[in-house]
Amino acid sequence: MEMNLKERSFLTLKDFSKQEIIYLIDFAIKLKAEKKNGVLKKKLESKNIVLLFEKSSTRTRCAFVTAAFNEGAHPEFLGKNDIQFGKKETTKDTAIVLGRMFDGIGFRGFKHKTVETLAEYAGVPVWNGLTDKFHPTQILADFMTVKENFGKLAGIKFAYVGDGRNNVANSLMVGASKIGMDFRIIAPESLFPSRELVKICENYAEENNAKITLTNDIEKGVKNCDVIYTDIWASMGEEDKISERIKLLKPYKITKKMLNLTENPEMIFLHCLPSFHNLKTEVAQKYPEICEVEDDVFESKFSKVFDEAENRVWTIQAVMVATL
Ligand code: CP
Ligand code: NVA
Repeated sequence: MEMNLKERSFLTLKDFSKQEIIYLIDFAIKLKAEKKNGVLKKKLESKNIVLLFEKSSTRTRCAFVTAAFNEGAHPEFLGKNDIQFGKKETTKDTAIVLGRMFDGIGFRGFKHKTVETLAEYAGVPVWNGLTDKFHPTQILADFMTVKENFGKLAGIKFAYVGDGRNNVANSLMVGASKIGMDFRIIAPESLFPSRELVKICENYAEENNAKITLTNDIEKGVKNCDVIYTDIWASMGEEDKISERIKLLKPYKITKKMLNLTENPEMIFLHCLPSFHNLKTEVAQKYPEICEVEDDVFESKFSKVFDEAENRVWTIQAVMVATL
């Protein structure tokens, strides 16, 4: 199915229909196959792309860069210390200037309002590479990985376990309710998503034959599910909440026992990454209880996290090509 997304920004999945989301995922699957078969044609030659990143990134930054090169575009990276933006220049002025020089803008940062303002004034497509509220390009890669494993998206039983109100959980809930999944958030009640977003997603769910469940009951939540997904317990910018989150979320750590509770031998484990699974990093050594998933699960045959990470390239590439 052809779809015209030209000149559209990609700020949240709320702005995209079920058909458009499916189109982007299928387009990404096609781009991945074309690159692997050596038949990918460069579709963005002479395009300039800028990446404006206030927060750190490995996958998202590299996915934008490699996707741009795959299509013949030139990517330029601006980190938080490289630019006037946020210090001497407003978001609006920055948006206008970048929009005069570049054909598209990738943004990663704190306030969701910033990416909205960039999109309002840039005059070129703006792609959200994560804000405090949403991480929509991540969800395209997650769902692409689900499709590669199960051959379908509608009807998939998808359990997100952990911080149920962060950017990844929010975006998964929006995407799952549009796609028609049986989506569960398993978290302590204080970490459930906002009532406002749940209400919006319940409306999508009704239109698309999806189901949304919020529960603090792990056994009930993961029963029969196809996917268990988690993210770190304190997102970027929430470093002061680490101790509190460890207390709240320790019972929700992903374990082999939890995988068995699904009673589904075909189930897969997903994680947007980075992960504290093996406690070998600096932060994990400082907080040895921060581990959101057992190493045994992370390294198991159920874990598709590195396919998911690679799929960030193909899905971001699909978004850039479709909107440019
Ligand atoms: N999943 C993800 O967004 O990873 P990065 O923070 O490394 O970009
Ligand atoms: N929720 C995490 C996602 C990282 C990809 C964060 O915002 O830090």
